Amino acid sequence: MKKLFGVFGYPVSHSLSPVMHSAAFFALGMNDCEYKAYAVEPSDLKEEILKAQAENFCGLNLTIPLKEKIFEPEFEGWIEADDFSKKAGAVNTLHFKGGKIYGYNTDAAGAHGALLEAGFSTDGKKIVIIGAGGASKSISLFFGERKNPIKIINRTPEKAKHLAREIIEKTGNEDVEGDGFEKGLAYLSDADIIIQTTELGMGKYEGVSFFDGLPGFDFEKEVKSSLFLENKVVFDIVYNPSVTKFLKQAKAAGAETLNGEMMLVLQGALAFEIWTGKKPDTAVMRNAIRAALLKEEQKKADMNE
Ligand code: ATR
Repeated sequence: MKKLFGVFGYPVSHSLSPVMHSAAFFALGMNDCEYKAYAVEPSDLKEEILKAQAENFCGLNLTIPLKEKIFEPEFEGWIEADDFSKKAGAVNTLHFKGGKIYGYNTDAAGAHGALLEAGFSTDGKKIVIIGAGGASKSISLFFGERKNPIKIINRTPEKAKHLAREIIEKTGNEDVEGDGFEKGLAYLSDADIIIQTTELGMGKYEGVSFFDGLPGFDFEKEVKSSLFLENKVVFDIVYNPSVTKFLKQAKAAGAETLNGEMMLVLQGALAFEIWTGKKPDTAVMRNAIRAALLKEEQKKADMNE
């Protein structure tokens, strides 16, 4: 009998998880495992999870916009979310086991692992997080728990301030502040690691950088020539395009840069391990993603010819 896995999201057709997990199963000779993407509207989530359980699914990933829904009242009592995902208010991994459904969030550990794998230690480092949405919530909680000093900058200052208060309450780490983009430069100049968590630079915001949103800000004058980013680590969790405008600028200004590819791989690898108890080959997963993205780029280029 096939062992079933998948990702629920809406929309989900662009998800690279099927390609990545299928490659990992194949490499381990787990040919009875199948991973597919399923478009699930938020209003159908409960019904679809129950259907998956009835069909003997082993594991699911949840992606936008479903990660936070698990904590709505209709889900209470039938999904056992772990402590971290409860605090983060978001679940990206469901594990069906012994008639129960367990919830986890592997996003932030994936982000942390990606930094480590690139050779960037995070211990005691001052971290600036751009954005106060879903991805920012779990990443700021993760580093808040590790007692890193954290500054959150967001277009809507109130959301950053609110998130900072939440992180302080949940982690007891008092060294957390949030504010608007006008504090951007002051925050960035004092950081060791900068993590960009918004959708700036991708999709409809391709070619747009966080720096473009800073009021009256001149990148050439204030960042590039000021050595202001030199030796800082700039991590953009976007993986498509592989180099966002923000990362290009950061590199030009002397920063060490990292894109979201390895975070995507490692959050998937952690989910894979939860479901199967096996460590997948992350190089195989990364190569599968690269090949899929390349194919997509070629398709785009052919269409523009
Ligand atoms: P996600 O789950 O991907 O983090 P989200 O919860 O909708 O998505 O959060 C989106 C984040 O991107 C927010 O921090 C948002 O800023 P606001 O809180 O001010 O809305 C940020 N964001 C989205 N579009 C942006 C833009 N054009 N300029 C600046 N920030 C933007």
